[in-house]
Amino acid sequence: MVKICCLGAGYVGGPTMAIIALKCPSIEVVVVDISVARIAAWNSDQLPIYEPGLDEVVKQCRGRNLFFSSDVEKHVAEADIIFVSVNTPTKTRGLGAGKAADLTYWESAARMIADVSRSDKIVVEKSTVPVKTAEAIEKILTHNSKGIDFQILSNPEFLAEGTAIQDLLNPDRVLIGGRETPEGQRAVEALKSVYAHWVPDGCIITTNLWSAELSKLAANAFLAQRISSVNAISALCEATGADVTEVAYAVGRDSRIGPKFLNASVGFGGSCFQKDILNLVYICECNGLTEVANYWKQVIKINDYQKSRFVNRVVSSMFNTVSGKKVAVLGFAFKKDTGDTRETPAIDVCKGLLGDKAAVSIYDPQVTEEQIQRDLALNKFDWDHPLHLQPMSPTAVKQQVTVVWDAYEATKDAHGVCVLTEWDEFKSLDFQRIYDQMQKPAFVFDGRNVLDADHLRRIGFIVYAIGKPLDPWLKDMPAVA
Ligand code: NAI
Repeated sequence: MVKICCLGAGYVGGPTMAIIALKCPSIEVVVVDISVARIAAWNSDQLPIYEPGLDEVVKQCRGRNLFFSSDVEKHVAEADIIFVSVNTPTKTRGLGAGKAADLTYWESAARMIADVSRSDKIVVEKSTVPVKTAEAIEKILTHNSKGIDFQILSNPEFLAEGTAIQDLLNPDRVLIGGRETPEGQRAVEALKSVYAHWVPDGCIITTNLWSAELSKLAANAFLAQRISSVNAISALCEATGADVTEVAYAVGRDSRIGPKFLNASVGFGGSCFQKDILNLVYICECNGLTEVANYWKQVIKINDYQKSRFVNRVVSSMFNTVSGKKVAVLGFAFKKDTGDTRETPAIDVCKGLLGDKAAVSIYDPQVTEEQIQRDLALNKFDWDHPLHLQPMSPTAVKQQVTVVWDAYEATKDAHGVCVLTEWDEFKSLDFQRIYDQMQKPAFVFDGRNVLDADHLRRIGFIVYAIGKPLDPWLKDMPAVA
């Protein structure tokens, strides 16, 4: 029986390994983590992450050929294939701070693997890493190997949170990069045979190591760039009276462009896009490619601009001050169908509103108060470390923020409502009821273009929706950051 061990029981390690276990009953899969609490949650009825369909898969395989354990070294020692899916945060200090990937967790994982291994291993990079990380990892492993053969593969993960299970079951492609030596190619074939249990041969792409590593960074940069492109156009739509939904539809009908991923919004979030682009920028700079670095930097700048533009719309609409006013925030997760708040635009929007002294009341169906308070208190980039290593949140923010478990309570007596995540349930809220219990004039700021603005206007709301023709109320107000 082939044994797989995965280091890192997070958003990638957990679901990916659950699907491998589901599709490969003959393989034993153990997911390990240095966070004992996270492993305990994976072994409980309340999984540590929310992902549609995940509960069923885990229930089906757990205890059969899928195990979660904090005995990291034992399972690494026993495994034939080791996936490494640990955090790769942006560095906050020292060389490359604010851009480069911090490979502390990766390096310590590699050293531990070298230390405890007694048999040959295939080590698979699952985390998104800078190009040429495999080379560094290879050096750490071979210099400490005691005669054991380590083959490094790059197998970046392309799943999207919220649709992870479907993405894993029917991937557009699986990418495997390896050394072009006979041993390297044998390792590629071994990993390929795992995926071949359910992924058609034509969907498995094999490349050299560096191409695989760079493809992941490039793919995320392209995806984020699409959002920043449509968001840049949304600002122009508001200035000119065009409707961004119509423009995006017309543009996306061109088969060379395609219709997906063209929704204007308050901005992109999630643990990867910003981190991976910063990483790409850093790699370009290190290679003397200043123009290329600046080109990709702009994707992040537009994203930041979009968030501050949204805050400015809120504040300027409400007589240029939200001081002491209750503002409801519906949705805190970075997208629907996940409880993940890493780099969610809601953090910057809430911080902007709090900076103007608003009393913010937040409701999200999947995010806890503890998580929200922590996010609003953390410094930039500090979030991407194992939970038990993050600094504790100071209590200062708490006074201005309330977190409730009901959209009607969040909006009661509020002056404005900001929709920051596209949860389906927000579309079917009783907005007449919400309007009746709000202060007047009552405002809705739809950061995801999910609400029926005409219906809201008929009720009496003043409505702002990203990239849509402006209400007369908003027309002459400053929109730029
Ligand atoms: P995560 O933060 O949810 O999980 C990482 C886990 O690794 C944590 O539970 C942490 O305690 C654990 N860990 C850290 N060092 C360890 C060690 N030495 N031994 C054992 N466990 C250790 O992160 P997530 O979202 O799963 O991401 C992991 C990697 O995958 C990142 O590089 C990310 O960029 C990449 N990725 C993430 C995607 C996403 O949608 N979240 C999609 C594709 C790639």
